Amino acid sequence: MPGRSLLSAPVSHPLFEIVTTTAGAVSIRNKIVNEIMHNPVGPWVEANALYIHQSRLAERLAEGEGEFVIFDVGLGAAANAIAALSCARSVPHHRPLRMVSFEREMELLRFALDNAEAFAHFGPFQQALSALLETGRWSEPGIVWELREGDFLDLIDAEPHRAHLIFFDPYSPKVNQDMWTSACFAKLRAKSRDLSEGGADLYTYSQATGIRVALIKAGFDVGYGLPTGLKHQTTQAATSRSLLRAPLDQPWLERYRRSHLRYPYDCRAEDQASVDALVEAYMTRA
Ligand SMILES: C[S@@+](CC[C@H](N)C(=O)[O-])C[C@H]1O[C@@H](n2cnc3c(N)ncnc32)[C@H](O)[C@@H]1O
Repeated sequence: MPGRSLLSAPVSHPLFEIVTTTAGAVSIRNKIVNEIMHNPVGPWVEANALYIHQSRLAERLAEGEGEFVIFDVGLGAAANAIAALSCARSVPHHRPLRMVSFEREMELLRFALDNAEAFAHFGPFQQALSALLETGRWSEPGIVWELREGDFLDLIDAEPHRAHLIFFDPYSPKVNQDMWTSACFAKLRAKSRDLSEGGADLYTYSQATGIRVALIKAGFDVGYGLPTGLKHQTTQAATSRSLLRAPLDQPWLERYRRSHLRYPYDCRAEDQASVDALVEAYMTRA
């Protein structure tokens, strides 16, 4: 991947533009899918609130032993990834961190880097970002960051590492539906650590019933995630209920029963009854 100057490239781009959100944060809009990343609180606030603080990343890096593996699904403009690197650097004696970022459209990160002055969090990591773009890898003592470039749905099956923590941040299901299916989550579940291997948890901004059901169907335990910005809920999933902050509860089950949008995107009409039975059984075990 050829390197780019951080300062000389034009701000205008056919696919992306720098925007100010309604909350006054600087972010990037994908003009084709018409979505603003980390809207409205902005990349740095949302990355830290939703993926870093909520997952207690600093404590887990400080406390545990052995390599800690993060899957960063949808590297995009790298706010979540840089928040994780920044968190690791803030922990004096942390366990080794390996972050694996998945992305099929590297142009977004190039565009963000070309406009690096708009994103203060890029500051200490510009060399890391350039190395990742040029070679697909960057490291410093205690940290390895690897890029998996291509379609996540193809790459994940061959992934040699298994995750302790997953940042799940594709575009919304409206424009990126294949990433929100139970088939996709099942692939991810297969590469997530069981409790006996340290466990794994996944964070995502969606709170949609059908997506929570897709996660359950894929074998995850599912709970409420903390609010961010205008979202009064997000979602946490894990390979054990014991890792959940707030498991789905009876009020959620009642909403599920009433919902007209309760099935995963890849659920066929003839399979809906078995999904209802699966959710009822899952919630009975809760
Ligand atoms: C909302 S943006 C990610 C923002 C990013 N996490 C950040 O912190 O800046 C979603 C990203 O997911 C990527 N993506 C969507 N579907 C994908 C797939 N099937 N494989 C790999 N990347 C995908 C998109 O190309 C896009 O860059």
